[in-house]
Amino acid sequence: MKNFWTKLNKPILALAPMAGITDSAFRQICRKYGADVVYSEMISVAGLHYNSAKTVKMIEHSKKEQPVVFQLFGKEPELFIEAAKLIEKKGGDGVDINFGCPAPKIYKYGGGVKLMRDLDLCYEIVKNTCQAVKIPVSVKLRTSIKTLDKKKTITALDFIKKISDLPVKAVMIHGRSYEQGFSGEPDLAMIKIIKKSFKGIVLGNGGINTPEKAKQMIDKTKVDGLGLAQGVLGKPWLFEQVKEYLQTGKYKAYEIKQIKKIMIEHAKLNNKLKAKRGILELRKHLAWYIKGFEGASSLRNKLIKIENINQLNNILKNLC
Ligand SMILES: Cc1cc2nc3c(=O)[nH]c(=O)nc-3n(C[C@H](O)[C@H](O)[C@H](O)COP(=O)(O)O)c2cc1C
Repeated sequence: MKNFWTKLNKPILALAPMAGITDSAFRQICRKYGADVVYSEMISVAGLHYNSAKTVKMIEHSKKEQPVVFQLFGKEPELFIEAAKLIEKKGGDGVDINFGCPAPKIYKYGGGVKLMRDLDLCYEIVKNTCQAVKIPVSVKLRTSIKTLDKKKTITALDFIKKISDLPVKAVMIHGRSYEQGFSGEPDLAMIKIIKKSFKGIVLGNGGINTPEKAKQMIDKTKVDGLGLAQGVLGKPWLFEQVKEYLQTGKYKAYEIKQIKKIMIEHAKLNNKLKAKRGILELRKHLAWYIKGFEGASSLRNKLIKIENINQLNNILKNLC
């Protein structure tokens, strides 16, 4: 068993999976600016089964972003076997399983957080995946979901107990319930319970958008690490700032000059990996990078129209 998790220094800072965002380019940027491990966007096991070119392409990665964990979603236990094997064959460092996504499309299909209502099915999926590969398997959960009749709540602790005999190496727990969605304070008490109850690595996730919030989650829950998601949109250097704050109690702000450099770096990577589509996909990141800049709204209007790196350079040239 090649378990990269045990080789990472704690607290481990992970880029949490985000569909449409954590592609190879953004993963490389986050690794460069302090992430210890990066998660892919969720990848459909059915898409891999039917050999969808777009889905298979999602497993491509660079050495520069490793260790990289590829996250799978789906509901058919047998499809997880071949999907996990493919990830291992393509050189992924770990396989993660999505038990937390509330997106209507995934939920309706029966994947993501909806699976938590059927712990026997969750068990089959995790068991199949663990048996299929030698690379470490991890899971991503929410704190809880109510049954359809709303009479009972199934918690992350129920899930952890259910899979306790399986060799799962890490859990990322999003400290919000299905019903809470993506806002509100994370439930640090439940994250702490999971840390106490699970023998492998536990990463706390939810609402970490400043170094202070990162420290608070670690102090209050004693987790082995953190998963950062929305907090690093347009701010991948938050990983570095968290590390600096945990070590020294303070952290440096990033200046416009440095941010411009990262924007160009990100644009070049997107262009190299996805050509024109990469530039179109970059536009949302550019809008996030300039949040809080003077004149951000007129700047954003220009950035969301760029078609190539020259145009980006020209817009950024006049910015100081
Ligand atoms: C745009 C977006 C896409 C996401 N996609 C995924 C995904 O593919 N898989 C997953 O497990 N979670 C996904 N998440 C959830 C995040 O990984 C994370 O659990 C959640 O945003 C809470 O963390 P935060 O408060 O730091 O953003 C997504 C979140 C966002 C905002």
